[in-house]
Amino acid sequence: MTLALGVLVSGRGSNLGAILEAIGSGQLDAQVRLVVSNRAGVPALARAEAAGAKTLVVAHETFPDRERFERALVAVLRDAGADWIVLAGFMRILSRTFLEAFPGRVVNIHPSLLPAFPGLDAQGQALAAGVTRTGCTVHLVDEGLDTGPVLAQAEVPVFPDDTRDTLAARILAAEHRLLVATLVGRSHDR
Ligand code: GRF
Repeated sequence: MTLALGVLVSGRGSNLGAILEAIGSGQLDAQVRLVVSNRAGVPALARAEAAGAKTLVVAHETFPDRERFERALVAVLRDAGADWIVLAGFMRILSRTFLEAFPGRVVNIHPSLLPAFPGLDAQGQALAAGVTRTGCTVHLVDEGLDTGPVLAQAEVPVFPDDTRDTLAARILAAEHRLLVATLVGRSHDR
């Protein structure tokens, strides 16, 4: 069945782009009902608009606290009819207020093989640790930082001459495939 997606972004939006392309090509049976950014003017919003997706900016700093920010997010996503929420480079931690509105239906993409290297700059953390393999994870979101049940993972090699940028680019390509494949799986489950 067609997934009704709400996508939360904060920046570049390449994972959002992968979702929109997969929908456009017929690979993914989904509609992006709404793209919400907590920051105005980011490339992710331009990408969404170019694909004809509805966008909104809900700027976290204009709310007195996290609770009211999250209630506003829930309201706009519910109004848009979104029933699966994808965090695609969304740089705010979500609490129970948000998660209880979409129980078991909030997914995140993270650039490491969780539980290894949670948090910021997972690619830099992997290089610093000297691992020979890293990758990416799609997981259900809980109240922790990059915790929550893993739905899918993909490995990529780390080469001796990798820089943070070469490694990040290799992981990002895997992210796009993994995120789309995971959503395709969810659409078949329904
Ligand atoms: C990705 O590396 C994702 O794993 C992480 O933030 C980055 C977002 O990239 N959570 P983009 O905005 O989708 O291009």
